[in-house]
Amino acid sequence: DRPVAEELLALALDVAAEAGDLLVRGRAGDVAAESTKSSPTDVVTALDRASEELVARRLREARPDDGILGEEGADAAGTSGVRWIVDPIDGTVNFLYNLPNWAVSIAAEIDGEVVAGVVHAPALGRTYTALRAGGAALDGRPLRVSAVDSLTMALVATGFGYTVERRTAQVAVLTRVVPRVRDIRRMGAASLDLCAVAAGTLDAYYERGLKPWDHAAGGLVATEAGAVVGGLDGAPGGEDLYVAASPAIFGPLVDLLAQDPRADRD
Ligand code: IPD
Repeated sequence: DRPVAEELLALALDVAAEAGDLLVRGRAGDVAAESTKSSPTDVVTALDRASEELVARRLREARPDDGILGEEGADAAGTSGVRWIVDPIDGTVNFLYNLPNWAVSIAAEIDGEVVAGVVHAPALGRTYTALRAGGAALDGRPLRVSAVDSLTMALVATGFGYTVERRTAQVAVLTRVVPRVRDIRRMGAASLDLCAVAAGTLDAYYERGLKPWDHAAGGLVATEAGAVVGGLDGAPGGEDLYVAASPAIFGPLVDLLAQDPRADRD
């Protein structure tokens, strides 16, 4: 039996709430960077791992034949056609510093297409959801992107990878963007940046080098709220450049970012 996206969304909501509780309880104690990944600043806490273990276990119990891809290493193919894409803590550096902008991000794909997404941010008291062709919501209230019509008037968020090479390239791009927009934000969790575009509390977001777990759920929230989501050539944003924007400014922003594509690649 093929699952319907609504059922997957309901499961993702339950599991994200459980992981969120675990993280809020864990955050009340000591939190330390346990190890690092791509660079010394790319940290992992014990709670990143505990959250991913909880999510993977709960999904496996409920739907043993599904696949899963998680930031902290979960990777199983599955046989059902459903795959879960999980970021157990998006915004780990915020979590480490006890800044509230972090989230548990869970997306469900059917046959390679994301059909449901949850971005659960307990410290903000916000839960974003989306169903493909079913709209996006914040705590059950429908979301819509902003009506901004010029890049000059746009509040644009971005993010930075963790390696020196990537950051050097990203700063070169940012130098070109800052004078051309209303202002820039770097809030520290890609999934929540995408949800903010959906809610119209940001006009656009771009970043180079995102991984599927950073954007799978938030990208659907943004799309379903009316954002245009894509990359440099209009194709769906992959690991190159990922852009989500209110429709009128997507083109101008991509044009600006594309002026020197080499500066945005490493
Ligand atoms: C990071 C955050 C950050 C973005 C980085 C991501 P993590 O995810 O989403 O905002 O700029 O590219 O790696 O490491 O906190 O899960």
